[in-house]
Amino acid sequence: MHSAVASGVPFPTVGLVPTMGALHGGHARLVRQAREENDIVVATVFVNPLQFADPADLEHYPRTLASDRELLGAEGCDLVFAPEVQEMYPGYPHAPVVTVSAGHMGEVLEGASRPGHFDGVCTVVAKLWHAAMPPAPAQLRSYFGQKDAQQLAILRRMQSDLDFDLEVRAVPLIRSPEGLALSSRNTRLSPESLEAALVLSRALRSLREAADAGRVLDVEVARTMIRDEPLAHLDYLEVVDHATLEPLSPEELHRPLQREALALVAATIQPVRLIDNCILPAVTPSNPPPDARS
Ligand code: PAJ
Repeated sequence: MHSAVASGVPFPTVGLVPTMGALHGGHARLVRQAREENDIVVATVFVNPLQFADPADLEHYPRTLASDRELLGAEGCDLVFAPEVQEMYPGYPHAPVVTVSAGHMGEVLEGASRPGHFDGVCTVVAKLWHAAMPPAPAQLRSYFGQKDAQQLAILRRMQSDLDFDLEVRAVPLIRSPEGLALSSRNTRLSPESLEAALVLSRALRSLREAADAGRVLDVEVARTMIRDEPLAHLDYLEVVDHATLEPLSPEELHRPLQREALALVAATIQPVRLIDNCILPAVTPSNPPPDARS
């Protein structure tokens, strides 16, 4: 039976999972969800040069197409699109003349230390959305991980601002049993760095526990946890609105959260820059501060 029919949608759906390969359990979760929710599942594997500010980073990005294909096949993916760079950008190494700008959302947080990164992400995703767009009345759904929360917020915005006729679906962040957010870059960490990297999820957990308990967040304590780890170099740890990425005001941070927020962290754990995040729930009637609980 077609999943689209099962989910009450009267026409076929295509689930698109854009990736840069070096696939792991986080990517597998995206494909699995797309498989459950759509008739046809398409994954793309393309290391997009436009989103790398640092040529060395592009050069060192892991490329494992043969095992990627195996994982995608095992997860029930119907089609893998793994283009050569010339196919995506015929003028390469010259960038396309017309590109998509992520605007101010692309200049903060990750964007502050990776100029042009989110413009490159938007440009390639726009091209992939066009390439995967099925003829009407079939519908396109595109899957992105909560792991890259800023990317997800920007792509949601691109979808609505540029009227792409498709649905963006978010998939939860997948972690190792120890708590490390799964990332293709983790393969470049030594055993010591892998251990040190756990400080990121510990710091986020301290904020999440405070939010869950309806307490005021101590963002500075969370930052200090990371600064105290000798192998870590903290870039930022910020609490922002999950849709606009605007930082919460100091007043808002001085009382229990009145709206859902996002804690985002980036740090270099030699030699790799890692990002992580967690959603912080607001104090609501179902999640009251401790003194209001009966
Ligand atoms: P890549 O880093 O390969 O990630 C592909 C997708 O997998 C993204 O949506 C990302 O958020 C998701 N993902 C990665 N690790 C995850 C984890 N631990 N848990 C949940 N989801 C995870 O993100 C990109 O590629 C590129 O920027 C791309 C969107 C493909 C454009 O080039």
